[in-house]
Amino acid sequence: MDKIIIRGGRPLYGDVRISGAKNAALPLMAASLLTKGTVVLNNVPQLSDVVTMSHLLMNHGVKLSLCGMDENARSGHRLFLNASNIGNFEAPYEMVKKMRASVLVLGPLVARFGFARVSMPGGCAIGARPVDLHVQAMRDLGAEVDLHDGYIEVSARNGLRGGEITFPVISVGATENAIMAATLASGKTVIHNAAKEPEIIDLCKLLSAMGAKIQGAGSSKIEIEGVSELYGATHTVIFDRIEAGTYAVAAIITGGELVLKDIDHRFFENISDAISEVGGKFSKISNNSVKVSSTDIRSKIDLTTSAYPGFPTDMQAQLMALLSVSSGLSTITESIFENRFMHVPELNRMGADIKIKNGIANIQGVPHLSGAEVMATDLRASVSLVLAGLAAKGETVVNRVYHLDRGYEKLEEKLSKCGAMIFRSSSVINIVEKPHIE
Ligand code: EPZ
Repeated sequence: MDKIIIRGGRPLYGDVRISGAKNAALPLMAASLLTKGTVVLNNVPQLSDVVTMSHLLMNHGVKLSLCGMDENARSGHRLFLNASNIGNFEAPYEMVKKMRASVLVLGPLVARFGFARVSMPGGCAIGARPVDLHVQAMRDLGAEVDLHDGYIEVSARNGLRGGEITFPVISVGATENAIMAATLASGKTVIHNAAKEPEIIDLCKLLSAMGAKIQGAGSSKIEIEGVSELYGATHTVIFDRIEAGTYAVAAIITGGELVLKDIDHRFFENISDAISEVGGKFSKISNNSVKVSSTDIRSKIDLTTSAYPGFPTDMQAQLMALLSVSSGLSTITESIFENRFMHVPELNRMGADIKIKNGIANIQGVPHLSGAEVMATDLRASVSLVLAGLAAKGETVVNRVYHLDRGYEKLEEKLSKCGAMIFRSSSVINIVEKPHIE
C-alpha cells in the first residue's frame, strides 16, 4: 500500500488551484441516468471516487468518455456521459460497498425506468450511514420499496407521482436522491428540511439545464414540478470548498501564505470565518481567489459541526490538526457522524494533547508536533495527518493513503509546488529511493 512521507517544518508559499468538488461531481454524474441525451461535465476532479462512480454507471450501461481539459483550460477532466442504453437496474454490493455515494443512482433509475435494485451501502469508518431517508423519499413519491437480502428494491410501475417529503434529519444524499427522482415524477413535489449545501445548488443547476423545473435550491424548502423528459446539457462542476479549506489550514499550520484560486467566495465564507477565528487571515484577491496567511494561532474556539451554512463536518479533522498547535484549550463537537474522531489517537501519537469526553474533543494546544508513523482511517482523517506532518518537526509517514486519493486531486503535487517536502512511496517499488531531502 502506498505511503506518503513528509519532512515537516517548512512554511508553504504559492498558488493552489482548487479542483472541482468531489461531493458535487458524484451526484452530477448520477444525474446523467435521467436522460438519453449526453451530459457533459467540465472541471471533474481526478479522484478515485469519480472512477468508482464511473464504473458503477458503466455497469448500468452508461457510455462514458473522459478527456483532459485543453492546456489553457483549468485542470480536471471533461466527462461525457450518455445513458441512452441502460440495460441493468441493479447496483451490486461489491460496487456499492466501496463508496456510499453509489446510492445516488437510486432516484434517477426509479424516476426514469420505474425500477431499481441498489445494495444498501453499509456503514463506513465514520458511522452507520443509514439510508432510511432515501427510502422514505421514494415512498413519499409513490414507489413501493422492499428491503431484503441487503438490497433496496424500489418499483414504480406507473411512474413516480409528486408528493410532500419532510426529512426529520437534514441529509445531503437523501435530498439529492429526492430532487432527482422528483424531476420526472408526475405533478409537484415539495421537499421540507432539505439540505442547503452548495453541492445541492450545483446539482439543481445541471438539472434545470436538462429541463427540470426546480425552485428553492439552497433553501430548506425545494419545489419541483415534474416533467415528462429531460435532455442532455453541459455543466461545470463547482469548486471543492472542503479542499479549499484544507489548503487554507495548510497555509496557517505551516506559518506560510497561499493563494487559493478558482474558488467562489459565496460558498467559502462559513469555512473561512471559522478558520479566521483560530488565527487565519483571508484577503480577497479577485472574484475567484483568496490569499490565506497565518497569524498567531489563537486559542479558545468551541465549535460544533452542523449542516450548511454551519461549519462542515468534512472540515472537522483538518481544523483539529490546526487547533492541536494553537495556544490554548478548544473544543470540537461532532454532531453529524457518530465516529468521526479516529484521527485523534493518530494526532496524539504526534504529540497532540486531545481528549474525548462525552463525545466532545478537548484540544489543548502544544508548542509543536513531532513526526511519526501514522495510519489513515478515512478521507478527512488522512488529510488531517498530512497537515499535522507538514507542521511537525521531523518525518511523518502516513499509511493507507488510498483514503486520500478518494477526495484530494494531486495532493502531493499541489503541496510540493508550494515548498512542502512530501513524496509518495509506492509499495510496487521494492526499494524506495527517498529523494535527498534536507
Ligand atoms: C454527504 O454524505 C457527503 N458525501 C459527506 O462527505 C458529508 O460528510 C455529508 O454529506 C454531510 O455533509 C457526499 O456528498 C458524497 P448525510 P451523506 O446524508 O449524504 C444521517 C466526505 O468526506 N442519515 O447528509 O451520506 C447520517 O447518518 C464525505 O467528503 C440518516 O440518518 O450524508 C448523518 O448522521 C463524508 N439516514 C446525517 O444524516 C439517511 O438515510 C447526515 O448525513 C441518510 C443520512
